Amino acid sequence: MTYSRITGTGSYLPENVLTNKDLEKIVDTSDQWIQERTGIKKRHIAVDGQATSDLAEVASKNAMEAAGRTADDIDLIVVATTTPDKIFPSTACLLQRRLGIHGCAAFDVQAVCTGFVYAMGVADQFIRNGTARCALVVGAETISRLLDWNDRSTCVLFGDGAGAVILESSDEPGILSTHLHADGAYEDLLHVPGGLGNGLEDLAVEMRGNEVFRMAVNTLGRIVDETLDANGMQKSDVDWLVPHQANIRIIQATARKLGMDMDHVVVTVDEHGNTSAASVPLALDTAVRDGRIQRGETLLLEAFGGGFTWGSVLLKY
Ligand code: ACO
Repeated sequence: MTYSRITGTGSYLPENVLTNKDLEKIVDTSDQWIQERTGIKKRHIAVDGQATSDLAEVASKNAMEAAGRTADDIDLIVVATTTPDKIFPSTACLLQRRLGIHGCAAFDVQAVCTGFVYAMGVADQFIRNGTARCALVVGAETISRLLDWNDRSTCVLFGDGAGAVILESSDEPGILSTHLHADGAYEDLLHVPGGLGNGLEDLAVEMRGNEVFRMAVNTLGRIVDETLDANGMQKSDVDWLVPHQANIRIIQATARKLGMDMDHVVVTVDEHGNTSAASVPLALDTAVRDGRIQRGETLLLEAFGGGFTWGSVLLKY
């Protein structure tokens, strides 16, 4: 049986840091409110001229180095992003050029905060069916460009960044299962109204935070059950929860559902804010590089975001 296995991880955060104290000077908010309601202390924000592909490039090179792979080895590139550099070419194609890779399939996946989980699901299919052997899978965002910096209910929540993994075909597990879902009925609860259909004036995140919060907690609870049931596994079989980093209270609720101690949950929301599609691979790379996540351990990656979209990846690292 062929599995896809993570052989290297990488990430990158823009150097420019915006603290809660900095935000107090921009909107009517407080460090205390932001920390109590979200767990966020600071976030990284791309400077002018720094695009999603710039962040993706560094994260990808770090992942390739960790896997011991070069441009010649990569035969698939999937980039999850909501904030592409251009309408087209895709950020995946722009990244492909930067990395000096030629000829392999390269495309973007757009599932907002669930983007990286979707991208892993797609790449896993390519590898399992033999179409690809060595995939570069990236979550990269400059979501700060989609914020209304006068709207305190959204601008304090997000940050920029990128994370990447190299996924390779292997006889050893590997990804055990992926679970991808969406329900477009909830468009109005979380969206950016602007676009080529509606006009480009209204390019800022709008969110009914309370309702999104409730949906996220319920949905992520259900996906934990679905994922474990599909693999005949118990909650206690999961070594690490690597969740989407939107809000510490959502993460704590999912951990409770798993009966999991918070010291087996990777938390980066305090340092990064919500980096949308970049949040799961950023959290993964953080815990791999600091030595918490070890080879052979079982990881549950999960995310929830605009669409609504939601999903999970269960894997042996
Ligand atoms: N500073 C100070 N006060 C604020 C701020 C702020 N930054 N933002 C809102 N408030 C006020 C509100 O105006 C409100 O005041 P009022 O009671 O006088 O009307 C009060 O704080 C409470 O607001 P709520 O929205 O009820 O606060 P809540 O506890 O729900 O927290 C939050 C808001 C953090 C947004 C939360 O609802 C949340 O995390 N939602 C889910 C976010 C999420 O998971 N998104 C999905 C992924 S994102 C993606 O896909 C792009």
